[in-house]
Amino acid sequence: MDIGIDKIGFYTPNVYVDMEKLAEVRGVDPAKYTIGIGQEKMAIAPLYHDSVSLAANAALSILDDEDREKIDFVLFGSESGVDHSKSGAVWVHHLTGIQNEARCVELKHACYGATAGIKMAMGHVALNPDKKVLVLGADIAKYGLNTGGEPTQGAGAVAMVISQNPRILSLDNDSAPLTRNISDFWRPLHSDVPVVDGKFSNEAYLGMLKDVWKAYSKKTQRELSDFEAMCFHLPYTKMGKKAIQAITEEVDESETKRFMESYHSSIFYNKQVGNVYTGSLYLSLLSLLEQAPEFKEDARIGLFSYGSGAVGEFFSGVLKPDYKKFLKKDAHESVLDDRRELSIEEYETILQQSLPKNGDDIDIDNEQVNVGKAYLSSIKGNVRNYTVK
Ligand code: CAA
Repeated sequence: MDIGIDKIGFYTPNVYVDMEKLAEVRGVDPAKYTIGIGQEKMAIAPLYHDSVSLAANAALSILDDEDREKIDFVLFGSESGVDHSKSGAVWVHHLTGIQNEARCVELKHACYGATAGIKMAMGHVALNPDKKVLVLGADIAKYGLNTGGEPTQGAGAVAMVISQNPRILSLDNDSAPLTRNISDFWRPLHSDVPVVDGKFSNEAYLGMLKDVWKAYSKKTQRELSDFEAMCFHLPYTKMGKKAIQAITEEVDESETKRFMESYHSSIFYNKQVGNVYTGSLYLSLLSLLEQAPEFKEDARIGLFSYGSGAVGEFFSGVLKPDYKKFLKKDAHESVLDDRRELSIEEYETILQQSLPKNGDDIDIDNEQVNVGKAYLSSIKGNVRNYTVK
């Protein structure tokens, strides 16, 4: 059965920080952030956005009434969940008006959650071919002011409808997963920000990539020449370049050059958003599909998902004819272009704000322009209240 991505959309908050200006204030050469890390802008989530509202906005941008009737499974991948018990999927299900005879679950493993969602969705559609699954990857990447991870923050969500006979990307069912118990990046229960060993996390990522690529290649007999382009989990966009160098180190340099051509399209959105953890790979895929010239029918795209801690997977998909017709390039470019730049002072204030940690009620200021269709408007009696415009 042909199963894959039928629709894909994304959302990021309406405010961002310019990386060159942040570098100046931090006393760092701006080229370190823009070239060394590879980020131009960094999305910041004010209190009116959390992983649920970001995911709801991404989903609202793609769902129509037929999807609302046929979706019977909502899978919410996140490492920025808003409740220890209730899943973000239940809120998104409600905020987007999906029919009630549905299952809703949250999935967590660092930046791998949405990939787990896709794998589960494929199984569900295989057993229930007339149904669709909504897979979400939504996160706020926050390391804190003046930390090593500060230039690699970001916020946003990707939403995908997985169905049979998809119109964008058919997913191959022959991927190579790998799990390794390591401590490169994690967020202890007591902490709002992760503990991270930056250098080790880079090495762990690249080591995992090389191993899953070898396993995938052995299993499928496919070689680099079978791929038109590659997309990677992008904690920052320079990582994509490192990833291409890692998997092409044993082959002719022309292969590196070939993948580097599409790399620039695959980082266009991520460069302007930053890390969105579990959505990052799919934001890169979306960027590639919308920003690169149209690939030929049946072009195969390689995908590497990495969640610190660590779970990685190399998988692939084949593009459908006329896939460009089913993308929303103009809408996605508007989401990025209609944002407001924050001064560094405003950014520092927002980053230090948090919702009450003692259960107090709060009304959240959301009188600003462009806050999205869905946003967090208050918490009353420990119940989160979202508004959909
Ligand atoms: N001009 C151009 N480039 C410059 C430069 C300049 N003036 N100054 C420095 N650079 C380059 C460096 O040479 C380096 O390039 P390479 O990585 O190619 O060697 C790059 O800029 C970064 O410089 P440093 O290594 O000195 O940077 P750092 O010590 O500040 O750490 C970081 C960078 C490790 C990414 C850090 O920001 C961090 O810890 N981020 C969070 C963790 C992370 O994103 N890890 C990624 C793998 S884990 C994962 O993928 C899961 C996830 O989403 C978190």
